[in-house]
This record gives sequence, structure tokens and C-alpha cells, in this order.
Amino acid sequence: MQKTLIHLIAAARPNFMKIAPLYHAFKCLDFLEVEIVHTGQHYDYNMSDSFFEDLKLPQPDHNLGVGSGTHAQQTAAVMIAYEALCQQRPPNLVIVVGDVNSTLACSLVAAKMQLPLAHLEAGLRSGDRSMPEEINRIVTDSLCDLLWTPSPDADQHLLSAGISANKIVRVGNIMIDSLEMLREVIENQKITEELELVKNSYALVTLHRPSNVDSKPALTDLCQGLFQIAKRSKLVFPIHPRTKSRLEEFGLLKELEQSNSILLLEPQPYKQFMKLVFDCRLVITDSGGVQEETTYLGIPCITLRANTERPITISQGTNRLSDPARLCADVEQVLSCRLATTIPDLWDGKTAGRVVESTLKFLQIHS
Ligand code: UD1
Repeated sequence: MQKTLIHLIAAARPNFMKIAPLYHAFKCLDFLEVEIVHTGQHYDYNMSDSFFEDLKLPQPDHNLGVGSGTHAQQTAAVMIAYEALCQQRPPNLVIVVGDVNSTLACSLVAAKMQLPLAHLEAGLRSGDRSMPEEINRIVTDSLCDLLWTPSPDADQHLLSAGISANKIVRVGNIMIDSLEMLREVIENQKITEELELVKNSYALVTLHRPSNVDSKPALTDLCQGLFQIAKRSKLVFPIHPRTKSRLEEFGLLKELEQSNSILLLEPQPYKQFMKLVFDCRLVITDSGGVQEETTYLGIPCITLRANTERPITISQGTNRLSDPARLCADVEQVLSCRLATTIPDLWDGKTAGRVVESTLKFLQIHS
């Protein structure tokens, strides 16, 4: 008899730490067959393979190899390739995570082929439709049969969109499972020493949002803000490929490279990056996941965005929104006070177990 087949869809760097705990939890159940489908949206070693190695994931069962492109090209390429895969052997459940273009693309394919579809990290909303990820979240959630949420605000967004309460299950934050799974290994990384960084004395910077890096004025302002901060604190800046190519294009890379207090790095593998987070004094970012990891670790985070789909990191955590004009003042303020924060409910490293429980219930009802 054929086993029940689950597809775990992974595409881009922030997806890998979300599928890893699920993969390991589902793998323990004999009657399930779990396949990892990598769409190939991210393909550099540092953006993809290194994460598979760190998170103890096997090679993907399927690699759709779509690569980069415009939004339409990328989304369409994933849809065509994923539909063909599902036609060969339709899965009994498709699990998508996060909010990247491949999340949307595979959700559309699953919904049109009437394959059961679940979304992990459902219900997050920034309210900003100029963000491609917001469109991906809205459409994905509207198509799902099962929506796993990380926080009460997410439940509320789904209910307000008319999604039935019995499809929504609050499971917590899956990224904390990966972090806890590898905590000891992360703590033992030597990257801080190798880079001759002093613990708690540097700010870690990550930037890649199109709204920050794709326009020359916006990126120039941000670099000016970073130069200001660099006068008082060392900055460590692993550069995303998108950001690196824009810095080169806009003639901004040289000045950054020449600064004595800004250390530019290649994108870092998961364990090394998390060690840099563990040891820093402050994070300056526009990433989604980093806002959550810093809240969990109690590390101050300044998010260079006008809004966030993760407001719980502000209301309960260590996060605050900023912009290039306020950046310096915000850094000063954050460094001069002690943040009173709490860890949100169910961000406890046990989210994968709750997802498995919910999946088994779902499969039983729908078999
Ligand atoms: C994507 C996601 C974003 C997520 C981010 C994490 C969408 C719409 N965006 O943005 O939500 O926060 O991943 O990194 O899905 N490139 C490489 N090597 C790679 C991957 C990309 O060089 O392995 C370069 C290519 O030039 C590419 C550019 O980076 O054109 C952008 O990649 P893309 O996947 O389109 O978007 P991200 O900015 O990475």
C-alpha cells in the first residue's frame, strides 16, 4: 500500500529553518512519506545548501531549479514545474511555509489541483500591499485548508478575512524549534573570535528588502545612517546577493568596503549567522525572521521598515521600527535603556510537535 505523501515546499533562505523541524518530526512516522520539494528560488551555496547541511536535512527529493527572475517569471516557472511534479504522483498534503514567491506559486497549483494545502506561518499581515510578500500571504492564506499561526494577531487577521475558525490552529513559532535544536552547536561556533569581534560590542546588520535596496536614494540614505552608527560602534554586515549587486550598481560598495568600522561579509550559513546574533549588542535589519529570533533571545532589534507583519515583536519583544533619518537616535536610545520583554506564548521549540498533531487530525478527517 502507498504511504500518505506529504510535500514540504522550500524555496528561499528563510524557508529552510521552517521546514527542518517539520521534516525531522514527520520522518519519525512510518506511515508517512515526506518529500522535500526545493523550488530553486535560492541556489547559491550560502543561500541554500549550507542551510540543508546545518539543519541536517537530506538533499531535496525534487529540485525544480527555477532560479531568479521577475515576480511573474519566477512564480510562473515554479507553477509549471510544480504542477508537472504533482501530476506524476499527487501528494496527500502540500505544506508551504512563509511568504516567498514559491509559497504562493505552489499554493496556487495545489488549490487548482484540489490537493489539500496547509500554510505554516499563516495570518501574518503588514497591511502594506507594496510588499510582494504581503500579496503572497493574502493569496496563500485564502487558498488553504489548514492554517498554522504563530501568534494571536495572525488568528485575528484570518478570522477577519472570513476564514473559518476550524481551519486555524495556533502552533507557535517554528523558527524557535530550529534555534533550540542547534543551540549548543551555535554557541560553540568560533566565528566571533575568528573575526576578532568583542562579544556585546558590535551591531549586526542585514538588509535586502526591495524598498530599502532597490532605489538609489533609499540605499544611499541607509548607507549614510550606517556610517553615522559606525562612528560609535563596529558594524558587521553579511551582504545579501540582491543588496550587493545594488550597492555595486549605485557606486556605494567601495565606501562601505573602505570603512574601518564596517565589516562586510558574504551571506553567512545558519549556525555562523546565529552565533553572530547571539554575540551582538544590537541588530539592525529589514528581515522578517530576525525580528523574531532577536525577540526570543532578548536582543535589541531595530527594523528599517515602515511596518511589520510581526507586531508581537514590538508589543512584547525587543523590536522597534526605524528609518535612516531616525536610525542614529534610535540606536542611542536602545543602547541606553534595558528592554523589558517577554517571549510570546508558544515560541517554545515545540511547534513542530503541534504541527504533526494537527496534521494527523486533518488527515484522519479527510481520509
Ligand atoms: C526572497 C523573498 C523574500 C525573502 C528573501 C530572503 C520573494 C518575493 N522574496 O527575496 O521574501 O525575505 O528571499 O533572502 O519571494 N540571488 C543570488 N543567489 C541566490 C538567490 C538570489 O544571487 O541564491 C540574487 C539574484 O540576483 C536574484 C536576487 O538575488 O535576482 C533576488 O533573489 P529573489 O529570490 O528574487 O529575492 P530575494 O531578494 O532573495
